[in-house]
Amino acid sequence: MATLYINEEKKKGTISPEIYGHFSEHLGRCIYEGIYVREDSGIPNKNGMRTDVVEALKEMKIPVLRWPGGCFADEYHWKDGIGPKESRKKMVNTNWGGVVEDNSFGTHEYFELCEQLGCKTYINGNVGSGTVQEMSEWIEYMTFDGVSPLADQRKKNGHEKPWKVDYFGVGNENWGCGGNMTPEYYGNLYRRYQTFIRHYNHAAPIQKICCGPNAGDARWTQEVLKTCYAHPSSPEAHGFMDGLSLHYYTVPGDWQKKGSATEFDENEWYLTLHKALRMDELIRMHSAVMDQYDPEKKIGLMVDEWGNWFDVEPGTNPGFLYQQNTMRDALVAAVSLNIFNKHCDRVRMACIAQLVNVLQSVILTEGDRMVLTPTYYVFHMYKHHQGATLLDSVLTGAAQIGGENSVPNLQESVSQQTDGTICVTLANLSTTDSADVDIVFADKKAETVQAAILTGTMQAHNTFDEPDVVKEEEFEGVRLTQKGLSLTVPACSVVSLRIR
Ligand code: AHR
Repeated sequence: MATLYINEEKKKGTISPEIYGHFSEHLGRCIYEGIYVREDSGIPNKNGMRTDVVEALKEMKIPVLRWPGGCFADEYHWKDGIGPKESRKKMVNTNWGGVVEDNSFGTHEYFELCEQLGCKTYINGNVGSGTVQEMSEWIEYMTFDGVSPLADQRKKNGHEKPWKVDYFGVGNENWGCGGNMTPEYYGNLYRRYQTFIRHYNHAAPIQKICCGPNAGDARWTQEVLKTCYAHPSSPEAHGFMDGLSLHYYTVPGDWQKKGSATEFDENEWYLTLHKALRMDELIRMHSAVMDQYDPEKKIGLMVDEWGNWFDVEPGTNPGFLYQQNTMRDALVAAVSLNIFNKHCDRVRMACIAQLVNVLQSVILTEGDRMVLTPTYYVFHMYKHHQGATLLDSVLTGAAQIGGENSVPNLQESVSQQTDGTICVTLANLSTTDSADVDIVFADKKAETVQAAILTGTMQAHNTFDEPDVVKEEEFEGVRLTQKGLSLTVPACSVVSLRIR
């Protein structure tokens, strides 16, 4: 029997809604087909954005959307993606399948999408193959509310008012596809490029995100911060850098043979979860380096690419990275989001890769059909954590399972919304055994509980022919007790409780 002690009096910080963020890249069928289908496609849409996908994402409460990449960002030239569509310059998407990118989804279309979704904007700029002038003009084009050549061009292209850029990434993976730079070199470039990200709207300054490490590369974090954390003319680092990114993908095999998304055994199940749980250690490690420069935690660690990366679905374009999504993905999403919640003092954003039709996507599409994946339902069940206050919680009595790929059978996080509702999210990582859990509050008397569950066999997934194999359901097995609540969490499941 496990016990989850919740001290509702001990508040541990705000869970930034952006921890529940997403990432859209010009990669495979993410943007084209997955999101943008053009007005005349026959698929129901508003200004080209497919209605079914937009509605599902709104229901999931998507808080922020990163665009246009990824590796794509460092070869994207924004001026190719504005103006009349028929005259937009085409390019080769060298990173992703060598296909022709016709640039019909560009800056205006991205903001239209975010407006329809009601989410914050996060644009990733091009340092690898772009100039400072190009980046600086993009900012002027998007955000200047006056008379200037770039603002005038925006107006001519049909958008009178400037847009709000909430976050701007200065390059992507500049240690790799973004230019193969050393941390010292990138750090100096960061200093230079970020200078020209002007805050034309002083009331809503753009949050600047510096390219951070890959997985466990603490040297990158150390050297980049050493080079560019402190601004020479301003001892206040905040404003010079608001976030440092971290990328970490869960790959059960190696990069040559990552493993199938749907055909796996119990051993691979635990291996995948074991690797996903490494996120906790990575956050601690990079946070410790960040603490040396920024003990007051003014800048955020932005985990702006994370999730499972498996082999592509058989028969699909290897450059498109299209993969299915099972209960294993649901469990990886659940434990990762619980980890982010618990580190909300440092982790201010996280964007799972990628939104539709690519890696650990929340939605898959085929023609005019759409399916919601198990990962979608986890984001839906966890949405109540967005903006809530993290509460102190301690789980005792969890078992270690999985043999050499050891994982706890249970994992959780707890928050409280402004109206007092307490949200508990619990994952049972065991493929075979249910787990009894007592929830004990310090003082609170639980009066009502609303519970939801996502469960299935480990390989269970939704297809276009059978879209409802795995879906969120009401969970009736929760009992109110003297000190809190008591429940049995089925094997291979994610449970969310809303307690009043
Ligand atoms: O998500 C696919 C790719 O993974 C991204 O483009 C890149 O940033 C990372 O290496």
